[in-house]
Amino acid sequence: MKRTAVVTGASSGIGEATARRLAAEGYDVVAGARRRDRLDALAAGTPGITPVTLDVTSQESVNALAASLGRCDVLVNNAGGALGLESVADGRLDDWQRMYDTNVLGSLRLTQALLPKLVESGDGVLVMLTSTAGLVSYEGGGGYCAAKHAQTSMTETLRLELVGQPVRVVEIAPGMVKSEGFAVTRFRGDESAAAKVYEGVPGPLSADDVADAIAWCVTRPAHVNVDRLVIRPRAQAAQHRVHRVSG
Ligand SMILES: NC(=O)c1ccc[n+]([C@@H]2O[C@H](COP(=O)([O-])OP(=O)(O)OC[C@H]3O[C@@H](n4cnc5c(N)ncnc54)[C@H](OP(=O)(O)O)[C@@H]3O)[C@@H](O)[C@H]2O)c1
Repeated sequence: MKRTAVVTGASSGIGEATARRLAAEGYDVVAGARRRDRLDALAAGTPGITPVTLDVTSQESVNALAASLGRCDVLVNNAGGALGLESVADGRLDDWQRMYDTNVLGSLRLTQALLPKLVESGDGVLVMLTSTAGLVSYEGGGGYCAAKHAQTSMTETLRLELVGQPVRVVEIAPGMVKSEGFAVTRFRGDESAAAKVYEGVPGPLSADDVADAIAWCVTRPAHVNVDRLVIRPRAQAAQHRVHRVSG
């Protein structure tokens, strides 16, 4: 029986690359996100991927996904992202709420819905896509850092609570990744503001780099739990220490 992996936020960036990569590793991949057209295109180009319309902020949508699955061996809680770069003083409440709902509660909804199947599989792996923003705070990152810190804390708690059960809990904390949507979403569609994030950085991480790290963690032997994998580009020594080459 082939192992089944559910990847949320698979219509773009890290999730899309992870869906492709896990399919190449031989998993039946269930790829979830809201933009169904993009998922259909992904599935059409990659054997082994089943597209599923999914909104992680809707309990109904998450329940429907869970009910449709015969089994689940791997869950990659990837759907999420940042909104805005305002200071805490100027932060918009609705941005903070949406970031919490997607990154934290979205991961919680999927985790609660699929945990019984992960346990049942006898070797379940739960991957949580957090961020270095879940470990260190930065100016303008208030709402996103708060949400990612919460997701990191939830991941640590879950690993403690599941000890003795056949489920590994893996946290992937990337630094700067030049993915398709992350910066564009953060800057509300402003492509030129988004491009500045990566300007002059020689070799930001790609979505494929992160997918590679996820695939490595997931394919270790069942007794090996990679607790947290922090992955940054060589040009980013720390959140505030980024090497940029001018013009
Ligand atoms: N890029 C970075 O620098 C970076 C660094 C560290 C961590 N991360 C984390 O990595 C994850 C993926 O980000 P990315 O860089 O790949 O960004 P991305 O290209 O913008 O992809 C985000 C994905 O999340 C999905 N999504 C958003 N809201 C959703 C919802 N309510 N329900 C279902 N899916 C939803 C989007 O799909 P739909 O819009 O189609 O629903 C999209 O597929 C995020 O959790 C992000 O916080 C990114």
